[in-house]
Amino acid sequence: MRKKIVAGNWKMNMDYQEGISLFSEVANMVKDEVIGNQQIIVCSPFIHLHSIASLAKESENVSVGAQNIHQEDAGAYTGEISAKQVRSTGAEYVILGHSERRAYFGESDELLAQKVNIALTHGLIPIFCIGETREERESGDFFDVIKTQLEKGVFHLSASDFSKIILAYEPVWAIGTGLTASPEQAQEVHAFIRKQIEAKYGAAVADETSVLYGGSCNPKNAPDLFSQPDIDGGLIGGASLKSRDFTDIVKVFN
Ligand code: G3H
Repeated sequence: MRKKIVAGNWKMNMDYQEGISLFSEVANMVKDEVIGNQQIIVCSPFIHLHSIASLAKESENVSVGAQNIHQEDAGAYTGEISAKQVRSTGAEYVILGHSERRAYFGESDELLAQKVNIALTHGLIPIFCIGETREERESGDFFDVIKTQLEKGVFHLSASDFSKIILAYEPVWAIGTGLTASPEQAQEVHAFIRKQIEAKYGAAVADETSVLYGGSCNPKNAPDLFSQPDIDGGLIGGASLKSRDFTDIVKVFN
């Protein structure tokens, strides 16, 4: 049975102390809440990774991820962080392909494919984001957009590598806007994503791949979204910055 996952993406929020406090609160609040096949992940800025990964080891219920890595192994890339460096902090996941990285930092599908490869090489699990802009939704092209993002970003992987990754559907028009995709709209795209996986890797792999929804997800709308058959949890931005909201979303699966 595929995993049910709630992952927080703090983005560029939380100073060092605030992040440690938030993580400790979350770990404490979910102590007795995690069910068998559920995974909770917190993706923090780089500055928190080592400390919260150490805290995560003690709590055991929450895992830690980064929000980006460089595509090369090592070298003269001032200001960048490698997959190996992230893994050495104890973090196990990395968000790749987030629309903010695509839009503000010009990350192309080709570059993202390189980042996916280097992450897997160093034992980091990519949480790979795909999703259409408002214009693409309105023009009706969104299925093509999503198919291309899958084909160029992750469908070069072998079935065994693909089986390690997590996907997140994040319609760009729903991110940080308060405009959530309706459960039906999200389900339609999630089912489409699973169909693409099935066509590429077969039904067993498609059935085991967790596909998260992201975009203004909160404790109120999460129950309806997560009850859709192809939505396996959420990638949570704003609501992951408040321990109560984040843990209320985690508890939707209980
Ligand atoms: O990675 C998280 C998404 O961008 C969603 O952000 O929940 O603030 O809309 P949001």
